Amino acid sequence: MAQKLVVGNWKLNGSLAANEALIGACGALAGVEMAVCVPFPYLAQAASLLAGVALGAQTVSEFQSGAYTGEVSAEMLAEMGCRYVIVGHSERRALFGEDDAAVGRKAQSVLRAELVPIVCVGESLAEREAGRVMEVVGRQLDAVLASVGVQGLSGVVIAYEPVWAIGTGRAAGADEAQEVHAAIRRWLADHGAPKGIRILYGGSVKADNAATLFAMPDVDGGLIGGASLVAQDFMAICRAAIANGDD
Ligand code: PGA
Repeated sequence: MAQKLVVGNWKLNGSLAANEALIGACGALAGVEMAVCVPFPYLAQAASLLAGVALGAQTVSEFQSGAYTGEVSAEMLAEMGCRYVIVGHSERRALFGEDDAAVGRKAQSVLRAELVPIVCVGESLAEREAGRVMEVVGRQLDAVLASVGVQGLSGVVIAYEPVWAIGTGRAAGADEAQEVHAAIRRWLADHGAPKGIRILYGGSVKADNAATLFAMPDVDGGLIGGASLVAQDFMAICRAAIANGDD
C-alpha cells in the first residue's frame, strides 16, 4: 500500500471542451495513483487524452449483454480503456434505487471484466446519530462479500463516503473518518479478506482538508467529487496524497 489512490468522480458534469481543458491541466504525478471517472459518452475522449492517469466509469450494468436497453456492461468499459468502476455510490442508491444486493452484483460484474470496482459504502446522518454506522456499513459490505466471495474482495477498492458529507462541504473529521476506516479494516480481517485492500475516504475532500485526512493510518486515498472538476484543487489534493503516502 505504498502509494495513495486519488480518484476524481466527475458525476454528471463535463463537455468536450471542458474535459479537454481539465484533463490538460491534470498531469500525472509521481508518488500517487490518480484516476478520473467520467460520464460514459466521454470515455473515448478521456482515454485519448489521459497520460499516466487511469480511466474509470461511475456505474455499470450488472448484466453482460442482452435485452437491457440503456445499460453498459463492464466488458464494454474494459474495451474503452477503463480500469476502475464506481459501484454503489450513495447517489445511485438514493436516486436510482440500487439496493445492497444490486451493488454486490455490479461489483461482481466489474471483477468479471477484470476491472477494479470502487465500492462505496456509508451511512446517512440519521443512521450516524442513531449510532448505527458500522451496522449500516457492515450490511453494505456483507452484500458485496455475498456476491464476490472472499477471493473477490482482494480485487476491490472500498470508498467510505458518509452520505452527510457528500457535496455538503462538511467532510468527516479526520478522526471520525479514521474510526470508520479502522472498523472497515477489522471487518475485512474478520471475514478473512487479504491484507492491503485500499479504503478511500470520500465526501467534501478539498485542497485544505486532504492532508489531514490522508495522514490517517487507514485512509489510503480519496474519492473526490466537486473538487475534481477544478484542476488546481484536484492537483493540490493529489500532492497532499504524495506528502502523506507511506513511502
Ligand atoms: P464531493 O463528492 O467531493 O463533492 O463531496 C464525493 C463523491 O460523491 O464521491
